[in-house]
Amino acid sequence: MRLLFFAGSAREGSHNKKLAQLGQQIAAANGIEAVFADLADYHMPIYHGDLEDDQGVPDRALAFKALLEAYDGVLIVTPEYNASIPPLLKNTLDWVSRVKSAEDVYKTRVFAISGASPGYYGAMRSLLTLRQILEVGLGATVIPQQMALPRASQAFEADGSLKDENQQKMFASVIEALAVAARKFAS
Ligand code: FNR
Repeated sequence: MRLLFFAGSAREGSHNKKLAQLGQQIAAANGIEAVFADLADYHMPIYHGDLEDDQGVPDRALAFKALLEAYDGVLIVTPEYNASIPPLLKNTLDWVSRVKSAEDVYKTRVFAISGASPGYYGAMRSLLTLRQILEVGLGATVIPQQMALPRASQAFEADGSLKDENQQKMFASVIEALAVAARKFAS
């Protein structure tokens, strides 16, 4: 059973990348094969129907879909932009949904979602949107456990762990629940 972690931000100092990387570390510390992927390495043009008709799906969408296919469980950590998910994340999910292949990558693995924000709500509203896109739009299974990390600018220790012990425990329980669900899905 293998887990993939990525964030809906390509920003170098991204709080959401930090949280996704922490998830990868927690999983690895529990003996799970886990990888963090950076969307900065999968930059794609904004979806446009004419672009798709003329040039097909970008190679990076094919590559990102292939990456997803290699994992049984995926944690997506999303920022909140104006009460929704960032265009980077939506664009990535949209392009991958346009790749034609036998396997529907969204329906054949299990997802968890979390988010981080410098504000007080911890990207909670973007989590509602992301859950709906994944479940209703893409037919994915998304586990109920999730983490919304508020005041993210002050939340991390230098080693990438969370300063607040309860938050660290809560996030670890999200990873554990994803691992349990992914094992079931994979068998
Ligand atoms: C934001 N930000 C933000 N934060 C929030 O909690 N609720 C919101 O609705 C918004 N809206 C919003 C819109 C736009 C266009 C930007 C650029 C930013 C702030 C956002 O949470 C902050 O920039 C995070 O640091 C972005 O995540 P990363 O890059 O740190 O992972």
